[in-house]
Amino acid sequence: MSIKKLIHMLLGCAAFMLAPIAHAEDTIKVGVLAEFSGPFADFGQQISNGIKVYMKEHGDTVAGKKIEVIYKDTTGPAPDIAKRLAQELVTRDQVQFIVGFGLTPNAMAVAPVATEAKVPMIIMNAATSIITTKSPYIARVSMTLPQVTAPIAEWAYKNGIRNVYTLVTDYGPGHDAEATFKKVFTKLGGQIAGEARVPLKNPEYAPFLQRVKDAKPDALFVFIPAGEAAVGVMKAYADRGLAKAGIKLIGPGDVTDDTVLEALGDIALGMVTTHHYSAAHDSPENKAYVKAYADLNGDKLRPNFMSVGGYDGMAAIYEVVKQLNGVIDGDKAMAILKGMKLNSPRGPIMIDPQTRDIVQTVYVRRVEKVNGKLYNVEFDKFPMVKDPGKE
Ligand code: PHB
Repeated sequence: MSIKKLIHMLLGCAAFMLAPIAHAEDTIKVGVLAEFSGPFADFGQQISNGIKVYMKEHGDTVAGKKIEVIYKDTTGPAPDIAKRLAQELVTRDQVQFIVGFGLTPNAMAVAPVATEAKVPMIIMNAATSIITTKSPYIARVSMTLPQVTAPIAEWAYKNGIRNVYTLVTDYGPGHDAEATFKKVFTKLGGQIAGEARVPLKNPEYAPFLQRVKDAKPDALFVFIPAGEAAVGVMKAYADRGLAKAGIKLIGPGDVTDDTVLEALGDIALGMVTTHHYSAAHDSPENKAYVKAYADLNGDKLRPNFMSVGGYDGMAAIYEVVKQLNGVIDGDKAMAILKGMKLNSPRGPIMIDPQTRDIVQTVYVRRVEKVNGKLYNVEFDKFPMVKDPGKE
């Protein structure tokens, strides 16, 4: 090799080695850990669609820094994979934020990684109450099951429902939903006719729903993770003739989630649920959001509550980067997140300074047809609700 060639090669190597360093200084990295494949792939899709809408509207530069988003697929409820990917994001990619988390088990597994690395972790969906207590570096912009369940228990009792069978998915958010419904509803004077739990993986609803039908309650309370599971429950509810037997279906809004609502069909008409977001939420902010979402992501998916979690989580990050003038420190970032108020497409939200959990309005909605399509139409609300276990 000639000297000239050797020098050329060495210079090339040096440039290659220096490039990422210069790049890192100008860049803020956000690692998104979510479910992008498997039966929960809609979760990752919705979260990332929301993130993309926010970045499209607000650009990808804040305080002179470029925001780079790195997506990692947990493949489903897979705590070991989630933890390994989080460690890679922190050590190899050196992200300044870890965000995403459709499913509770993935968020729980990553909490110790956030603590050890002092990297802020923003929960965009996972909704088991206890998650935020697992690391001082966690803030949640989505919901908690107790927060969205207590209102439906109150609404049901006020509207003459006295006897309810509960059916939940057998993991964190399902246990929270079951316990909260039971507590609030029985305190008001209601009765629990029976309780059932179905597994998170490969659930079967039909045998449980036959038992519910035989018990003849006024209503069936359901929590299942939004998406495919909702389709399964509603199919069994229709096939077993529970609606015909006059047994109402109620619950937090996961069961009539916007992602699958059209697929549920007319059996869902009239169902009342409580939740923090509906694509039909009537506000200028939400109209703009729904339009921007469709313009960017097409109309195959309707924006749901997880997408709004992605959107608001990104808004929180932009605010932190702005206030810290692009120099991110985990503790300073958490201090800014505590008490942060945002004007979300769902309405006003706040991160509670004590618990780092979300405070927001929970809406009572009924499934109705709007321009020939099924929507959760809001007709009442519980303003600025905290997780009842964190008052
Ligand atoms: C969760 O795993 O925390 C979770 C997933 C889907 C939902 C709600 C909660 O719809």
